[in-house]
Amino acid sequence: REVPVRQQSIVLIGFMGVGKTTIGTLVAQKLYRSFVDIDEEIEKEFGMPTTDIFKVHGETVFREHEKKLIQFYCEQKLKIISIGGGAFMQPEVREACLANCTVFYLDVSWEQWKERLDILIDSRPILQNRDLDEIEKLFYERQGAYSLNHSTLSVNDQSPEQIADHIVESLK
Ligand code: S3P
Repeated sequence: REVPVRQQSIVLIGFMGVGKTTIGTLVAQKLYRSFVDIDEEIEKEFGMPTTDIFKVHGETVFREHEKKLIQFYCEQKLKIISIGGGAFMQPEVREACLANCTVFYLDVSWEQWKERLDILIDSRPILQNRDLDEIEKLFYERQGAYSLNHSTLSVNDQSPEQIADHIVESLK
């Protein structure tokens, strides 16, 4: 490992809409570090929202940019990085995160996640062409990949503030 553990960037992973951006912003404030949201960086690069990137350029192009940006930011020190829910399915992304960063998996139950579907659907292309059974299947498939090798924090019945505090505490 190139970067000493205390200076490593922190990466937040987990399913869409689990609160990675909200919690990452809070952790960054608490630790006086800068926050990077990879989806936002991709949207800035393309000058359009994710849904339009998927429509105009396709998912493959989105994934390629996502991977490059994550590889770039993971090598930087002291950042708090939120990555999209699908990013960790790419082996190169997992490698970049695990080799250089401290990874926290934000875990939510299917029951609680389902309640958020209505507010997520417009901004999440992955949810738009799937029915609820297919989304549930994707949820559990990804849960399997997220939960390998890192600290898991349950977000069920906890506020973003409480979760951010847990992350900060666990670094001490
Ligand atoms: C995706 C999750 C989104 C975004 C894109 C694809 C996915 O990020 O990267 O819509 O495949 O799960 P969030 O996890 O921040 O919603």
